[in-house]
Amino acid sequence: MDVRTSPSEDHGYRADALIAEDIGAYLDRHRHKTLLRFITCGSVDDGKSTLIGRLLYDSRMIFADQLARLEEDSRRVGTQGNDIDFALLVDGLAAEREQGITIDVAYRFFATDTRKFIVADTPGHEQYTRNMVTGASTADLAVILVDARKGVLTQTRRHSYLAHLIGIRHIVLAVNKMDLVGYDQPTCDAIVADYRAFATSIGIDAFTAIPISGFRGDNIANRSDATRWYDGATLIEHLETVEVDAAADERAGFRLPVQWVNRPDLDFRGFAGQIASGRVAPGDPVRVLPSGRTSSVARIVTQGGDLDVAVAGQSVTLTLADEIDCSRGDVIATADEPPQVADQFEATIVWMAEEALLPGRTYWLKLGTQTVSAKVREPKYRIDVNTTQHLAAPTLDLNDIGVAEVATDRGIVFAPYAQSKQLGGFILIDKVTNATVAAGMLNFSLRRAQNIHHQPIDVTREQHAALKNQKPAVLWFTGLSGAGKSTIANLVEKRLTRMNRHTFLLDGDNVRHGLNRDLGFTDADRVENIRRVGEVARLMTDAGLIVITAFISPFRAERAMVRDRMKPGEFIEVHIDTPLADAEARDVKGLYKKARSGELKNFTGIDSPYEAPEHPEIRIDTTRMTADEAADAIVAALIA
Ligand code: ADX
Repeated sequence: MDVRTSPSEDHGYRADALIAEDIGAYLDRHRHKTLLRFITCGSVDDGKSTLIGRLLYDSRMIFADQLARLEEDSRRVGTQGNDIDFALLVDGLAAEREQGITIDVAYRFFATDTRKFIVADTPGHEQYTRNMVTGASTADLAVILVDARKGVLTQTRRHSYLAHLIGIRHIVLAVNKMDLVGYDQPTCDAIVADYRAFATSIGIDAFTAIPISGFRGDNIANRSDATRWYDGATLIEHLETVEVDAAADERAGFRLPVQWVNRPDLDFRGFAGQIASGRVAPGDPVRVLPSGRTSSVARIVTQGGDLDVAVAGQSVTLTLADEIDCSRGDVIATADEPPQVADQFEATIVWMAEEALLPGRTYWLKLGTQTVSAKVREPKYRIDVNTTQHLAAPTLDLNDIGVAEVATDRGIVFAPYAQSKQLGGFILIDKVTNATVAAGMLNFSLRRAQNIHHQPIDVTREQHAALKNQKPAVLWFTGLSGAGKSTIANLVEKRLTRMNRHTFLLDGDNVRHGLNRDLGFTDADRVENIRRVGEVARLMTDAGLIVITAFISPFRAERAMVRDRMKPGEFIEVHIDTPLADAEARDVKGLYKKARSGELKNFTGIDSPYEAPEHPEIRIDTTRMTADEAADAIVAALIA
């Protein structure tokens, strides 16, 4: 094993957080090895710094002078016997050591025979969420440390949630300090079971649990005799064999965000950048986005000569067979499977500035090599990182994480963050101070991709409507589960049919058996549920129908989004306003009972919000009228 730490002027063991040139030189020497980036999450109390120190120390690669320094410091702070306090090896600034906390992200480098590693040591406290997100944004793997004596804590959940949110694919649950619980298997098993329950609830399908002692070195580099009941890999074995993101990136579609256009003379025009994903070879058909123009790759030029093939992570210059427009910020992609272009998104945003988000203000949004103006709408909600609950939030403050709509002033080439960190991750920059104020992840676009053009159709929506002798409309019912939406909607449809109107009723429970059978009840799924139903409703109005929809549709933002998609005046919001207590008392499907008992999660009104409409076209107070009266009122309002 080979650890590279840079010499330091002041603290022998401090400056192993390398500066950029050192990283380059280091990585150069190990070019043939795969690189795994990982983060360690936990607090000093969990033994995080000790573990990192142990990882480096077991590799016997601490410089001799640093080791002497360490022993001296350990004596000074009173570590007993010959045990070296590994925390001192890596805890950064003097101030941190005094406070016993780690405050910034320190990167360390080491290598084994098969792989090289960059470990980001991120701080554990909640006020350092932004630091953790920074460290985690490029990581392939997260080591979540728990103290075997304490088990899964709030911060364990927070770190896991953040790691998952940031898109880290591999989670290691390191059950540390096993020596202090007598290497007891049931203790470890109980912690793993507890963690599994939580992990599953936030969508982590798999993780690897390893019982360790950073202090004693059990199951770090060497298998421990004290844990014979554990037959899995040691931590280092696991780190050496887990699949790195770069390998997965190589399998994805080809994307090259263009960093600059290299035009030394009139004969040569090359497009330079780092390949974000996939592979490319001369002759490959490509499409330049956002313009959508196609060509094929002529040459792959590098400083060391032309290449036959290039893959994700490599920096190259491409020349194309045709003279087509392509400039900085464009993305060259495989022709048959290009990324999308859009200007409206739902995004998850981590706020990193002291000054809170100002919804509606214009910030610079930088995504890869693209920089555009962007506005963030009022957040749909903020996420409590300790409980993962969604809370109402008018803005986002320092270290807050929230979900909001983002609109850019022109189309950008993107992919959902879950598919591509490079094309889905962005930062927001204050236009006045030039400070980075937020990091974000694009979840999906809210508008039709701009590179898909409208196909002209000869039979117009007006003709469809005229043939049916009616004005198309959407009666959009919203309200709590059990409010009576379906019942009243059904009565409305019967009345309209009797009046020879052409209608169609889209009902939540029915649509969820077919079109939306893949969606559950997380907020994101509900947003997608409503987006799809909105699109279907829009198509049906194009066909001249009067559409009646009965969905809880709990969020204002999505109802507003559907309204925006409709022709003016065709969207009629109908709030079936039933007090929660009434809906719960009726509990027709027995779901409230299940929700109260905790058997059913994310239930609207119980542990998932309902945002009542502020200005619905029609409001039905079910405490004051029967379903029949409500239907009459709605039909009357529609026909008026
Ligand atoms: S929406 O929030 O996405 O608009 P939708 O109207 O499609 O919800 O579906 C709501 C129906 O699904 C409810 O009437 C109820 O029968 C059922 N349901 C099952 N689980 C939940 C849940 N967690 N929250 C709300 N409704 C649920």
